[in-house]
Amino acid sequence: MVWEDLVAERIAVESYNEIIRYLGNDDPTTRIAMEQILAKEEEHADDMKKLLETLSKDERRAEHS
Ligand SMILES: [Fe+2]
Repeated sequence: MVWEDLVAERIAVESYNEIIRYLGNDDPTTRIAMEQILAKEEEHADDMKKLLETLSKDERRAEHS
């Protein structure tokens, strides 16, 4: 489930990057809004990655106890 969430966040990051590339310098206000959303999506992806790493460490610890 967390893995699927990470994949979804990464798809969102790529989608916002695509929108920002598409906008270029034609619409600075929309571009700034998209960049702010992108920053949040990147945070979400980082959170999911850290959570997966923590879960994986906990699983390894449980296997060795
Ligand atoms: Fe998100």
